[in-house]
Amino acid sequence: MVPEAPRQVSAANPPQELCQVASGAVDRINIPIGEFNRVLGGGLTIGSLVLIGGEPGIGKSTLLLQVAAQLAGPEDAVVYVSGEETARQIKLRAERLGLAGKGLYLLAETDLNVILSQIEALSPRLVVVDSIQTAYLPELETTPGSITQVRECTQRLMHWAKTGSVPVLISGHVTKDGAIAGPRLLEHIVDAVLYLEGEPFSAYRLLRCVKNRFGSTNEVGIFEMGQKGLIEVKNPSQVFLSRRQGEAVGSAVVATLEGSRPLLVEIQALTNLNSFGQPRRTANGVDFSRLLMISAVLSKRLGFKLGSQDIIVSATGGIRVNEPAADLAIALAIASSFGSMAVKPGLAAVGEIGLSGELRAVSQLDRRLSEAARLGFKHCLVPKVGLGSSPPPKGIELIPVSTLREAVKEGLVVKKAGQKNV
Ligand SMILES: Nc1ncnc2c1ncn2[C@@H]1O[C@H](COP(=O)(O)OP(=O)(O)OP(=O)(O)O)[C@@H](O)[C@H]1O
Ligand SMILES: [Mg+2]
Repeated sequence: MVPEAPRQVSAANPPQELCQVASGAVDRINIPIGEFNRVLGGGLTIGSLVLIGGEPGIGKSTLLLQVAAQLAGPEDAVVYVSGEETARQIKLRAERLGLAGKGLYLLAETDLNVILSQIEALSPRLVVVDSIQTAYLPELETTPGSITQVRECTQRLMHWAKTGSVPVLISGHVTKDGAIAGPRLLEHIVDAVLYLEGEPFSAYRLLRCVKNRFGSTNEVGIFEMGQKGLIEVKNPSQVFLSRRQGEAVGSAVVATLEGSRPLLVEIQALTNLNSFGQPRRTANGVDFSRLLMISAVLSKRLGFKLGSQDIIVSATGGIRVNEPAADLAIALAIASSFGSMAVKPGLAAVGEIGLSGELRAVSQLDRRLSEAARLGFKHCLVPKVGLGSSPPPKGIELIPVSTLREAVKEGLVVKKAGQKNV
C-alpha cells in the first residue's frame, strides 16, 4: 500500500477572506471586431481560455486569424499556433484576407511543451491555438486528439493563461451531432465556449456563446463569409428579409430573438399535392417536430386538408429559427400557400401555438416589436394572452389574437388575380 503523503501547509497561497479580496471589473481586451466582442460580453477577459468550436470548414481558423491580426501590432506580440497548417499556408490566407503581419508570430507546432516555451519567450498579448485536437504532450502515452491528450493540453493552457494573465483562444472541431468528444468534453474546463455555426449552403455564420464565466450567454454575433473572410453583419434583419416581395403567397415574417437580439426572418412555405405516395414534410432552418405539430393543428383544428400535401418550410438566408415564437409565422406561411392567399403586406407575426390551436405568450415582446417597427412593419399579430397595457412602438399596430383560426383570418388577404405561389 502506498503511504499517505504528509499534508503540506503552504504559506504561498493562503485562503483569502471574501471581503478582503480586491474588487473591480475584470480587465478586458477590446477586440476591433464588434460582433466578436459582443458575444464575449464586451471583450476578451485577461487570462481567460476561450474555446471556439465548429464543424470542419465553417471558418474557425479564418476568424481566429482575423482576431489575432487585429490585436497584433509593433508593440503587441500575438502568437498564432497552428498544428494544421504551415506558416506559408497561413500567410496565403492572411494575404487573401488583407491582414498585415506586424507583431503576429506564426508557430507551426504540435508539441505543447515546445509551444509553451516558445510563447513564453515572446510575452504575447494573446495566444491562439488552432486546433486543440492537434496539440499533444509527448509524456502522455495516448495519441494526439485522444480524450486524455485534449483534456490535459487544455488544462495546461488554462494554467498558463491564468498564471501569465494572457488570454488564450483555442479552436476545436465538432460534428453536427457533437459526436466527437473533443470540444464537448472541454466545455466545463474553459472559461467561455463559442460555437461558429452556419448552414452549408449559406454564407452567413452565427457565433453563439454557450458558456461564459465573464458575461451573459445570450449574445449572438452574425457574420458573412466571403473572399475577405468573416465580415460583420451590422443589420441582420435586413439580410434575412432582403429578397422579400410586398405581398408574397406562402411567406410570413417572424420577429424572432437570437439570444437577446431581435431579428426579423422570413419564413417561406410551399404546399403541393402529392398524388403518388407518402406526403413529405421538409424543414430547412426551422424545427422539424414543430412543423409536424403545426401542420397537425392546421389540419385538425382549422380543417386544412394537408394530409395529402407535401409541405416544405424554409427560413430564408440560411438562419435557424428554433424558438416556438416562430410557430405562428410558420402556420401563416403554410396556410397562405395552401389557400393561395397572400399574407397581409407589412405584417409580422409572433406566437407559440398550442395543440388545441390556442396562441401562447412569447417573451420580450417589446424588443421584437421595436425591431419590426424599425424595419417598417406596420402590423404585428401577437397572442392576446399575456399582453401588457403598454402601448406598442410608434408606427406599428398590434393585432391581438387568441387562436390560430383568428390569426389566419386576420393575417391573410385574398390573392390578387395573376399572383403566383412562391
Ligand atoms: N476564396 C474564398 N472565398 C470565399 N470563401 C472562402 C475562400 N476560401 C475559403 N473560404 C471559406 O473558408 C472556409 C474555410 O475556412 P477555415 O479554414 O477558416 O475553416 P475551419 O473551420 O478552420 O476549417 P477546419 O476545420 O478544416 O480547420 C471554406 O469552407 C470557405 O467557406
Ligand atoms: Mg482550421
